[in-house]
Amino acid sequence: MPILDAHALDFISYNYDQTLRYGVKLGQLLQPRDLVCLSGQLGAGKTALAIGIGRGWGALQPVTSPSYVLANEYSRADGAQLHHLDCFRLADASDAEHICLDERLAAGASLMVEWPENIAAALPRERLWVGMSYFEEEKRSLGMRAAGERFERLLAGFQKTAFQHGNV
Ligand SMILES: Nc1ncnc2c1ncn2[C@@H]1O[C@H](COP(=O)(O)OP(=O)(O)OP(=O)(O)O)[C@@H](O)[C@H]1O
Ligand SMILES: [Mg+2]
Repeated sequence: MPILDAHALDFISYNYDQTLRYGVKLGQLLQPRDLVCLSGQLGAGKTALAIGIGRGWGALQPVTSPSYVLANEYSRADGAQLHHLDCFRLADASDAEHICLDERLAAGASLMVEWPENIAAALPRERLWVGMSYFEEEKRSLGMRAAGERFERLLAGFQKTAFQHGNV
């Protein structure tokens, strides 16, 4: 049973495909300049959720892991941009310049950031933070935290579409 206040939503994904479906629901709601931080240990399912987000958002190419390239950029038919950053190899906030976080947002891209804690000090305060952790085998716990009015609305929208008519 998800727990919701304006800022927080906690739930469990029971398998990989369900994580994809949660991602699709979130991706359908993403707007330009939205920042989604995907936090969690190796194998927690951050990229799985990002793949679903890309599908729901309408990316023309399937999302793949940006682990080796730091940044992948996706387009939609209407020209909108979705960028997927991996900060695993970045050491601190000064590295955020190298991945052009602010420029990407200023240009209107929607952003997904894996390993956001590595550049914590450089992240905008307003964002949706998704913490994922290994629970058991195929179970993963997800904790969403919204900061700022836009992201509270995004979280409320996600709660509605993902849980109102039964689970995804
Ligand atoms: N419920 C689940 N949700 C997501 N992934 C799951 C789930 N159950 C099992 N898995 C498996 O866990 C792994 C998640 O890998 P993924 O690449 O998404 O993790 P990650 O958090 O992005 O790791 P990294 O920090 O290495 O980028 C996959 O092998 C996937 O098949
Ligand atoms: Mg990953």
